[in-house]
Amino acid sequence: MSGIFDTEQRIRLGIWGLGRGSSFIKAAKELNIDVVAGCDFHEDTWKHFLACCPDAFVTRDEDDFLARNFDAVLVATYCPDHAKHAIKALRAGKHVLSEVTAFFTPAQGVELVEAVEATGKVYNLAENYPFTKENMYLAKLYREGFFGEMTYAEYEYVHGGANPCVCYPNGQPLVPGNQLHHWRGWLNYHYYCTHSLGPVMIITGLRPEKVVAFPQDVLNIGTVHGKGRKIDGILPNLGAFAPSLIHMSNGGIVRNLMGGTTADSHNQRLFGTKAAAELYPRFNLKVGATGSAHLISIDAKWEALGELAAKAGHGGGDFWELYYFARQILTGEKAP
Ligand SMILES: NC(=O)c1ccc[n+]([C@@H]2O[C@H](COP(=O)([O-])OP(=O)(O)OC[C@H]3O[C@@H](n4cnc5c(N)ncnc54)[C@H](O)[C@@H]3O)[C@@H](O)[C@H]2O)c1
Repeated sequence: MSGIFDTEQRIRLGIWGLGRGSSFIKAAKELNIDVVAGCDFHEDTWKHFLACCPDAFVTRDEDDFLARNFDAVLVATYCPDHAKHAIKALRAGKHVLSEVTAFFTPAQGVELVEAVEATGKVYNLAENYPFTKENMYLAKLYREGFFGEMTYAEYEYVHGGANPCVCYPNGQPLVPGNQLHHWRGWLNYHYYCTHSLGPVMIITGLRPEKVVAFPQDVLNIGTVHGKGRKIDGILPNLGAFAPSLIHMSNGGIVRNLMGGTTADSHNQRLFGTKAAAELYPRFNLKVGATGSAHLISIDAKWEALGELAAKAGHGGGDFWELYYFARQILTGEKAP
C-alpha cells in the first residue's frame, strides 16, 4: 500500500501533452498512479518523458494512445483543445483530469457535461492555485466563519507570456508560417480565468453569477495585433491585460485580473464583514470590522501530507489536484 490510500489498487494513467503533462510524473508514484502511456506529436518531449517512465508506451498519434488499455488520461494539450480532447478521452472509456481551462464556449461546456454524465467517468479540472497552503488555510478559516461574508476580493494571475509566443515548450523557436504561432501569444486572457477565480471560489464556496469587462486596446509586445474577426480573423484585443468585475452568488464583488505582461503579479486580497486577508508581500490577516483592524502575520501549514505536497510544483497545488483525482477514482469521494 502507498500509505496514502488504504488500498492496493493502482490507476494506470496516460499523459496527453508531454510538456506540462510530464510535471505530474513524480507525484503520481506516491498516489497509486502508474504512468503507462504518453502522447505528444512534438517528439522532443519524449526524451524527458521516457527517462522518467522507461517502460511507458509513447506515440504521436492520439487514436493509438486512446486505444491502449489504461484507466485515466491527463489532458495537458493546447489550451483551446481541452474540451475536445477531454470528451474524446471520456468516450474512449477513460477518467479525465483536464488542465485549465476546461472549455471555451457554452456549447463545449454542455457537450463536456453530457459526456461525463453519459460515460459515468470521473472528470476533474486540474486547477491547482486553490491548494497552496495559504489558500487551503484561508478556505478553512472561511468555512469556520472567521471572515463573515465576503464583501470584496482582488485575485490576480498575471504571467508574462512573450517567450512561449514564439517558442516550443523546450525553448526552440517555432517554425515560421503559422500566423498565430502559439496560443499563449493570441489568447484573450479572460479565457485563462481559473488561477485567479479558482482560489476565491474554493475559499468562499461562492459562484460567479455576472461579469463586466472593458476591452483593452494597448497590447503587450510579442502578442498578435489583430485587425478584427472579419478583416484578418484575429480579434483586436488579444494578448493584453484582462480585468473583470464579477458579481458573486452572495452579492459580493471580485476583481479578477488576468494577462500575460511585463511583470508577473499574483496579488490576492480578500475582505469579509469580520476580517480581511492579503497574501503579498506577506500573508497577513486583519481582524475586526474597522479600518484599523488588528494585523496578524501567518505562517500557514497544511493539515496533512504537507511534506509530499511541498515537493510538488505550484506551491503544492500540483500534488493536491492529483491527490483528489486519485482519491475520487479509488474511493468515490468527490474532489473539492
Ligand atoms: N495549472 C498550471 O499551473 C499550468 C502550468 C502550465 C501549463 N498549464 C496548462 O497545461 C497545458 C499545456 O501547457 P504546456 O506548458 O505544456 O504548453 P503547450 O500548450 O505548448 O503544450 C501542449 C503540448 O501538447 C502537445 N499536443 C497538443 N495537441 C496534441 C495532440 N492532439 N496530440 C498529441 N500532442 C499534442 C504539443 O505538442 C505540446 O507539447 C496548457 O493548456 C496550459 O494552460 C497549466
